Amino acid sequence: MKILESISIGNLELKNRMVMAPMTRSRANDEGVINDLAVVYYKQRATAGLIISEAINISVQGKGMPNTPGLYADEQIAAWKKITDAVHDAGGKIFAQLSHAGRVAHSMNRDGILPVAPSAVSIKGQKAHTSNGQMDYETPSELTVSEIESIIEDYMRAGANALKAGFDGVELHAALGYLPNQFLIESSNLRSDEYGGTIENRMRFIVEVLKGLIAIVGIDKVGVKLSPAIPINNMFDDNQKEVYSQLFLALNKLPLAYVHLMEALFPLEDFPHFPQKPLYETGHLINIPIITNGGYNRDSAEAVVQENKAQLVSFGGLFLANPDLPRRFELNASLNEPDRATMYVGGDEKGYTDYPTLNAI
Ligand SMILES: Cc1cc2nc3c(=O)[nH]c(=O)nc-3n(C[C@H](O)[C@H](O)[C@H](O)COP(=O)(O)O)c2cc1C
Repeated sequence: MKILESISIGNLELKNRMVMAPMTRSRANDEGVINDLAVVYYKQRATAGLIISEAINISVQGKGMPNTPGLYADEQIAAWKKITDAVHDAGGKIFAQLSHAGRVAHSMNRDGILPVAPSAVSIKGQKAHTSNGQMDYETPSELTVSEIESIIEDYMRAGANALKAGFDGVELHAALGYLPNQFLIESSNLRSDEYGGTIENRMRFIVEVLKGLIAIVGIDKVGVKLSPAIPINNMFDDNQKEVYSQLFLALNKLPLAYVHLMEALFPLEDFPHFPQKPLYETGHLINIPIITNGGYNRDSAEAVVQENKAQLVSFGGLFLANPDLPRRFELNASLNEPDRATMYVGGDEKGYTDYPTLNAI
């Protein structure tokens, strides 16, 4: 199968084209230090061509959900080093997903400090997941230009820390309504300075962060995750297709490792102007390697790689539930079903490190 064949991205040799998608598992302590069970969890999945870590906060300010890990303190870096060492020892590769949640956050999870965002616009119609249960989103405080500049520096510092922690590269989380996505989309960006207004201005933040990360982490070692067909967290833009088309053209000019492009995950009948199938409709605009994501199984993943619409495919739920997913694909073996009850809420081994491999069955 082509999906099981090796591929190089820059100097990075991946043993297959199957990527473990980033998945927040909420098992870090209050200081954002990931626990030792995560060493087992990631090592179990090291047969992926590439693992992308769960979203990692670049700063205290960037924290969204409770119990998410960070990459801004020495203790956090040391904890991640154990994970990258274990993955490398098992012959795997791992990127760090760098995250700033912006307004997808709540002061309850942030020592009473309000979230920040491009503009003072709250998320409506959804609840924030806090240490105190579900709560309404608050109106975030609007960032000044100098605060934006320091966030870009925070990303760069986190990029440097990712290298110290032994990661092979980094992925900018610019999907699912997180801070970079908030800059890009008109519903969350009402600014009239150089970071708002025109599409060129709204994509400035993403481009500047990526350039900063490339300068620190290296050429072909920085990827970016995008979700052009997902309105979650109030990502509504009347010119959705144009916004992403322009962004792709800007990304093509950067020496990126890849674009990680999510397909729609929910029905889009209220959003007929969104790309309904981003890879098929817009993939031809991208001239860097594409990791396609969203709902793939063995056959659809093999087909998309055979057609060369994308070079790699990432799997979320399937890698969560099947640590040995490449082997299962190779043998066309049956798959474990992900247990929804233990997917998002943190906890112990259950639904984390106890999914059986084929050998154990
Ligand atoms: C438990 C869970 C946590 C997730 N956390 C993140 C995350 O931290 N960062 C991110 O970009 N996407 C996150 N996602 C989305 C996945 O990376 C992926 O895009 C999504 O699951 C669709 O892929 P799939 O259909 O193969 O599962 C998460 C998904 C799941 C199931």
